[in-house]
Amino acid sequence: MFSSELKFQTQGELCLGRHLLHVDASHGSESVIGQGALALFTEFAKLRPEVEVRHLRLWEDEELRARMEYSLRHVRAKMARMSQRGSEEDVQCFANIELLAAEIATARGLVISAPMWNYGVPWVLKQYFDAVLHPGLSFQEAEGGCRGLLGGGRPLVLLTSAGGGAQKDHLTPWVLDVGAMLGFDEPKVVAVAHLARDRDAALRSLEAAAAPAARHLAESGRSKEATEEPEPDCGYEELLPWLQSRGLGEEALDTLRAAKVGGEMFLGASAEDWENEELGLSEQEVRQLLRLQEEFRAL
Ligand SMILES: Cc1cc2nc3c(=O)[nH]c(=O)nc-3n(C[C@H](O)[C@H](O)[C@H](O)COP(=O)(O)O)c2cc1C
Repeated sequence: MFSSELKFQTQGELCLGRHLLHVDASHGSESVIGQGALALFTEFAKLRPEVEVRHLRLWEDEELRARMEYSLRHVRAKMARMSQRGSEEDVQCFANIELLAAEIATARGLVISAPMWNYGVPWVLKQYFDAVLHPGLSFQEAEGGCRGLLGGGRPLVLLTSAGGGAQKDHLTPWVLDVGAMLGFDEPKVVAVAHLARDRDAALRSLEAAAAPAARHLAESGRSKEATEEPEPDCGYEELLPWLQSRGLGEEALDTLRAAKVGGEMFLGASAEDWENEELGLSEQEVRQLLRLQEEFRAL
C-alpha cells in the first residue's frame, strides 16, 4: 500500500513506554462520558497504581491543539520525505507530529472518549488521528494489514455516548480500526445511548461498566505476554515482554532494552556480565536475571 515510510528524525528509537494514553474528545468532565472516564480511571488506579495516565484533552488544551496542526504544508512535507526529497524545513515541519506519534505508538494502552457527532467522531478526534497516523511513525505495513510499530496485543477502551439510539454508527468501527492499526487491537467498547431521553440511566450504565473496563485495561496484553514463549535466538523485542511477564522490574527491563539484549546474548551472559557496574543492576536484579536465564534455557 505504501511505497515507503517515514523515519523518526527528531525522536529516538521507540520502546514500550510506562504510560497509558487517554485521548479525550468528550464534552468536558461534567459530560456523561467525562464522568464515566473518571470512574474508569479511579478503578484503574487501584489495579495498576504504577502506570502513568496521560490525558490529552483535545478540546481544552491549546498547546496540544497547536501540536496537532496538520495542513497541506504537512502533507507536502510528508510526501517529500517519503520520496527521499525532504529538506530540513520538511523535517522541522514534522517535529510536533513525531512527538505525538511516538507518544501514542509507545503507550501500553489506549482509552478514547468520544460522543457521537453526525454518526461519526467529533472532528477534533479525526484531526488527532490524521496527525499521528503515518507509516513508519506509528504503524507499519504487514501481511494482512497495518500493525503497530511495537506490535499488537495492547488494550483499547472506547467510551462513547449518543443522544439518540445510535442505530447508525460509523464511530465505533472507525475507532476500532485506527486503534488496531496502532497495535491497540484488544478492544472493549463501553457505549451508552438515548442521552436525550435519560441521562441518569446512561450514567449509571457507564459507571457499572467502569470496573470491568479497568480490568480489561489492566490485564489485557499481560496475559498474552505471559503465554508467548520466545525462541532462543529471538530479538530483544520478543524477549523483554517475556521477562516482564516473569516479573522483571521496569528499571532492569530498561537496562536490557538499551543494550538490545536478545535471546542469545541473554543466554550467554555470565554472573560477572550482569554485575558489571556499567549496567547498574542491583544484587536482587542480578539474582533474578540468573534465575530467569535458567527458566529461559528450560523452555
Ligand atoms: C455536533 C453534534 C452532533 C451530534 N450528532 C449526533 C448523532 O449523530 N447521533 C446521536 O445520537 N447524537 C448526536 N449528538 C448528541 C451527542 O452524541 C450527545 O450530545 C452526547 O452523547 C452527549 O454526551 P455527554 O453528556 O457525554 O456530553 C450530537 C451532538 C453534537 C454536539
